[in-house]
Amino acid sequence: VKFKSPPVNSLSLDFLTELSIGLEKLENNRGCRAVIFTSAIPKIFSAGLDITEMCGKSTEHYAEFWRAVQNIWLRLYGSNMVTVAAINGSSPAGSCLLALSCDYRIMADNPKFVIGLNESQLGIVAPFWFKDTFVNVVGHRIAERSLQLGSLHSAPEALQLGIVDELVPEEKLQDKAAAVVAQWLALPDHARQITKSMMRKSVLDRLLTHQEEDVQNFVGFISKESIQKSLRMYMEMLKKRKG
Ligand SMILES: *[C@@H]1O[C@H](CO)[C@@H](O)[C@H](O)[C@H]1NC(C)=O
Ligand SMILES: *[C@@H]1O[C@H](CO)[C@@H](O)[C@H](O)[C@H]1NC(C)=O
Repeated sequence: VKFKSPPVNSLSLDFLTELSIGLEKLENNRGCRAVIFTSAIPKIFSAGLDITEMCGKSTEHYAEFWRAVQNIWLRLYGSNMVTVAAINGSSPAGSCLLALSCDYRIMADNPKFVIGLNESQLGIVAPFWFKDTFVNVVGHRIAERSLQLGSLHSAPEALQLGIVDELVPEEKLQDKAAAVVAQWLALPDHARQITKSMMRKSVLDRLLTHQEEDVQNFVGFISKESIQKSLRMYMEMLKKRKG
């Protein structure tokens, strides 16, 4: 699956909806046992959640958007397929969540590419299921520090912290991802799938049993005038930077 939504693969409602439909099709296709996610856009895997979906819209819109974000995570984190992220560019915030939800992460070996859950830098609190996913990959201490500081880690640092599993030169990324998939698919699907589900089920269930509460929580938070104001200022800054 190649993300191609210029300029920066922002996770807009349309993007998330299309990805969700795509994943559902693959999940239901018995001939498809693995997926590699990568970007078709140079230097960026995805910029993360689309801020324009969270700014100056109705509460109904915020709720719909948030359900789409939950949906993608539930699908990806709970997928029966082998999922590999071939991260060939920066991967902040929601984009990092997508990568963390895969079974394995390979990143292009370029210190200019950064990855991390940097929500807190914008005054946004990463929801508990972002946190749970992160903790399950890197452990409590690293997740705690990185989340509080909203850190974006360079590729070498991300490898050292365990956020990604390996670094390879960008031109070898595709071959490496294929080799990893071959390794994971050499096992019987059944045992691997049950094991995956055993490892992930409690975290998935936590969102499933609090899904609507989590939507209301997000809508309440994002609708606050102080948050809207800082999002507007942030978008202004991005516009200025662009042109
Ligand atoms: C990496 O980025 C380029 C775009 O620059 C893309 O075409 C390529 O397929 C990407 N993925 C991999 C796995 O190399
Ligand atoms: C995270 O950092 C990236 C890259 O600097 C930025 O584009 C993005 O808006 C930030 N996201 C949040 C939620 O702070």
